[in-house]
Amino acid sequence: MTDKINELLRRVEEFKPKAAAEIEEFRIKILGKKGELNALMEDFKTVAPELKRELGQQLNRLKNEATTRINALREEWQNAAAENAASEDDLTRPGTAEHLGSRHPISLVKNQIVEVFSRLGYTVADGPEIEDDWHVFSALNFPPEHPARDMQDTFFIEKDPDILLRTHTSSIQVRTMERQKPPIRVICPGRVFRNEAISYRAHCIFHQIEGLYIDEGVSFADMKQSLLYFAKEIFGEQTRIRMRPSYFPFTEPSAEVDVSCNLCGGKGCPVCKGTGWLEIMGCGMVDPNVLKANDIDPEKYSGFAFGMGIERVAMLKYGVKDLRLYFENDVRFLHQFDEAL
Ligand code: PHE
Repeated sequence: MTDKINELLRRVEEFKPKAAAEIEEFRIKILGKKGELNALMEDFKTVAPELKRELGQQLNRLKNEATTRINALREEWQNAAAENAASEDDLTRPGTAEHLGSRHPISLVKNQIVEVFSRLGYTVADGPEIEDDWHVFSALNFPPEHPARDMQDTFFIEKDPDILLRTHTSSIQVRTMERQKPPIRVICPGRVFRNEAISYRAHCIFHQIEGLYIDEGVSFADMKQSLLYFAKEIFGEQTRIRMRPSYFPFTEPSAEVDVSCNLCGGKGCPVCKGTGWLEIMGCGMVDPNVLKANDIDPEKYSGFAFGMGIERVAMLKYGVKDLRLYFENDVRFLHQFDEAL
């Protein structure tokens, strides 16, 4: 009898239904009224009393195992059926629309600025984000004691020789001058890094776009006219610009460029702090020392350079009040630019 019980146990363990109906068939065959277990129960009545205890336990075990196994199989097949039903395509239902992403506002504005300058004959130049001292500072006429060379202001990766994260995209202009002889007309967009506390108006990572134009007889008037054209294209035809004297190590003379406030039209509002003007970029005539450092004859050639923060242009263009929004990638912010441009 033990052999019979074990044989049944083995069949229960090895049972693999190929359809849900087979489970019920199997149950009736084993556990049903006229099933094999009940047949064994009949036999059990006639066994010798001294064997009853042992065989009784074996029969109980068989009953439990068979019940558990059948219940588990039933559940398994029900779950699979539910899943199949859910994934079955109903071809009569309307389709789900593919969700399209949108361009990041920084990319939108960058592309627009590049496009404006490409109409003036500028091509795009690129360069590495990890730079050396020469391309970020020395070739651009930064004096040795300039604060930008300090750990407070710049992220250094190594000291002596200095390897650092570029603090402005002017380094791309140096790399362009190394590669190319005048005439040079390049626009250099890129990510830059400064050791600044993060707030609504400053971030340690941001984007710049800088331009460089070197040729024979390039004048300050050329620069002013190019920048006015740029301002009108980006902020609207009515936009005016003004220049204020400033200082950069790599340009002489240097200026800060303001555009008339596009929100109040120059009358004065909270965005322009009542002045009617918004500061937008730095610019200047390339310092002869920079030309010399890059093997360009300052007697023959002159040029101008300008640089601006893309975040700032985008803030003014779209009325974004907190610079940190650009880096958080919150889709509620980003989707507002779906239709932009
Ligand atoms: N490199 C300057 C900056 O990062 C911007 C600039 C570029 C100014 C070219 C003048 C000329 O602030």
